[in-house]
Amino acid sequence: MKTRISKHIDSAIELLTNNQLVAIPTETVYGLAGNALNPETVLHIYEVKKRPHFDPLIVHTDSIEKIKSYVHEIPLIIHELAQKYSPGPLTFVLPKNDRIPDLVSSGLDSIAVRIPDHPMTLDLLSALDFPLAAPSANLFGKISPTSAQHVYNQLNGKIPLILDGGDCSIGIESTIVSWKNNKLEVLRLGGITIEQLKNIAGEENIHALKNDQITAPGQLKSHYTTQTPLIIGDLPSLIEKHKDSKIAVLSFCKKYDQLENQFVLSPHADLHEAAQNLFKAMHALDALKMDFILTEVFPNTGLGLAINDRLARASFRD
Ligand code: TXA
Ligand code: MG
Repeated sequence: MKTRISKHIDSAIELLTNNQLVAIPTETVYGLAGNALNPETVLHIYEVKKRPHFDPLIVHTDSIEKIKSYVHEIPLIIHELAQKYSPGPLTFVLPKNDRIPDLVSSGLDSIAVRIPDHPMTLDLLSALDFPLAAPSANLFGKISPTSAQHVYNQLNGKIPLILDGGDCSIGIESTIVSWKNNKLEVLRLGGITIEQLKNIAGEENIHALKNDQITAPGQLKSHYTTQTPLIIGDLPSLIEKHKDSKIAVLSFCKKYDQLENQFVLSPHADLHEAAQNLFKAMHALDALKMDFILTEVFPNTGLGLAINDRLARASFRD
């Protein structure tokens, strides 16, 4: 199969309506999308991505009204969050009704749903009379794609179309929340920060899980893996220790003199810019095929928490 890259939604509408898969841009990462109401299409998503069936998918739609038609209820605080941060990088886990096939939710009685903030994909979703199930458009466990080219590199020949909506503006996946025992639980750190959640939900209503306790089905310890071993630590010491190896360096804001292969995520130490560049840098440094990628712990605040979560999983090896 030849994979086309296009900036127009017309053929995406046609392909998706015919239960084919299309990679779509979102503000977080690109998604591998198909009709969420058709079990065979959903199965095809798992197959193309080589994803185990225990790892449920996120359903994408374009309005809170449409979300209501797929779930039993929306708790008040989730509704307030949805009004404030949708469209945006926030996913809600809600009790699902029978319209969404069990395969989407891996047999759970809840579904994850979000409204992505990307003009092209919002147009697409409003033109369709079904929602789109879409995991990130990478092969299972690999680095998430933040450009059409990243998707092409991993899925060329496996899907008919990639919708090119440019580079993703947020650059890391959505934050996932659920409402459990009258508390807001954060299941995955992402593009909406804990501070932003607290602003709407109130600090007292947030079940503050520690960084390493945050988990959802499919949030495996090893994820976003680079081919090149990735090591996290104090960069000057790591650079010294590995001076006889071929190294690439991924730093937050500091440039290291006399180092050839380095990617500074944000020279002005802006965590938003760092998140935007994170996966791009990982793809680029990995392609250099060095012995190691050396990186550091980012500030443990705002988007830094989500960045540290991605780096920890990328560095984890069995
Ligand atoms: O930003 C994003 O969320 C991107 C874009 C494409 O929207 N999507 C994404 O999907 O990151 P994916 O498949 O890579 O991650 C989905 C994760 C699952 O691994 C699981 O942790 C969680 O969402 N999830 C899905 N359904 C769930 C449910 N019913 N309960 C709890 N967690 C769920
Ligand atoms: Mg993913």
